[in-house]
Amino acid sequence: MPHPYVLLSAAVSLDGHLDDAGPERLLLSGPADLDRVDEVRASVDAILVGAGTIRADNPRLLVNSPERRAARVAAGRPAHPLKVAVSGSGDLDPAARFWHTGGEKILYTTDQGAERARALGIAADVVPLGPALDWRRLLSHLHDERGVRRLMAEGGGQVHTQLLTQGLADELQLVLAPLLVGDPDAPRLFGPGAYQRGRLRLVETRRIEDVVLMRYEPTAPGTGATVSAADRHWLALACELAGRCPPSRTAFSVGAVVVAADGTELARGHSREGGDAVAHAEEAALAKLDPTDPRLATATVYSSLEPCARRASRPAPCARLILDAGVRRVVTAWREPDTFVPDADGTGVLTAHGAQVLVLSEYEDRAKAPNRHLLG
Ligand SMILES: NC(=O)c1ccc[n+]([C@@H]2O[C@H](COP(=O)([O-])OP(=O)(O)OC[C@H]3O[C@@H](n4cnc5c(N)ncnc54)[C@H](OP(=O)(O)O)[C@@H]3O)[C@@H](O)[C@H]2O)c1
Repeated sequence: MPHPYVLLSAAVSLDGHLDDAGPERLLLSGPADLDRVDEVRASVDAILVGAGTIRADNPRLLVNSPERRAARVAAGRPAHPLKVAVSGSGDLDPAARFWHTGGEKILYTTDQGAERARALGIAADVVPLGPALDWRRLLSHLHDERGVRRLMAEGGGQVHTQLLTQGLADELQLVLAPLLVGDPDAPRLFGPGAYQRGRLRLVETRRIEDVVLMRYEPTAPGTGATVSAADRHWLALACELAGRCPPSRTAFSVGAVVVAADGTELARGHSREGGDAVAHAEEAALAKLDPTDPRLATATVYSSLEPCARRASRPAPCARLILDAGVRRVVTAWREPDTFVPDADGTGVLTAHGAQVLVLSEYEDRAKAPNRHLLG
């Protein structure tokens, strides 16, 4: 199910705290960074926080700049993004500012929490998600029922920890403030959890007065049929590589990336790479790898087009090369049409041998873009 793009936003002290343990909210950012946060808020469809943040900070979570609100309205959007709260208990203060400022509000909760929230008269659309709160269901609901395409999660630590460990965060915008809290009772940005083992990708650093903004993207593929945000990033890269292929009238332009379970890129390739007129993307990528690399058994192959099941130009089709490499998870954007090979079914070949194939059709247009001339 498609999800919104999920951006985690937080400011932390040098010792990793979101706040101190006192009653007042600790100010970590300065005016310029708060203005940057306002700009990000103005760019999203919805802002999400956990009940802990509503209780601790009583935030409004508005777009503060009148110019930014006016620009949103001029673009046909509400002045403020949808405000989203998450609570298991439903035990929230109905007088909190969150409910009485800005535009629409939605509270995701459990069946029991919904009863409690309704009894308290919480001024929001109360959506129960079952006996327990399921983040994937929440994100699908926001996407499908509320049209949310970009979601900014503004904390707190429990919310960020779950979105990151469950592979649901597309991006982390972290501001590091030059102060130390030093109190073991103060809330931390990330709690214990099953995080991805490898490194995140650093996409930007920016000095803003005396704080530093760092933007990271998680890189770890999902497991089995579970799609992670990083799966979408890698598939988008495969589609981008497809656009770099030398054009052909007799073969598709395809990009492929092989990624280890910890998020390390192992190899990439594209059709007709290196002047080889018949090279396929997956073949080009796999050829760069040591076939005994133990990471292949848990790696994922991302290919903009379903790996081929039959080919005239070489003895082994790409579905076979992937199986022989030991890879058992493939993510693709587009099933192969009958343009060159009738009834091509690379997915059938792969799944018949125990591989998982996921088709993320929201990337199909990107995968087709460099192949339009072949599609009539
Ligand atoms: N520096 C920053 O950028 C920043 C930003 C935001 C917040 N903060 C700070 O962060 C602190 C609050 O963080 P926090 O970690 O304590 O709280 P939080 O993440 O804001 O909220 C946690 C609450 O959300 C609900 N929740 C989250 N996941 C759930 C799930 N899977 N199932 C059911 N309910 C779930 C629960 O509500 P119920 O208890 O109602 O069940 C839980 O107690 C505050 O001190 C605040 O100042 C700092």
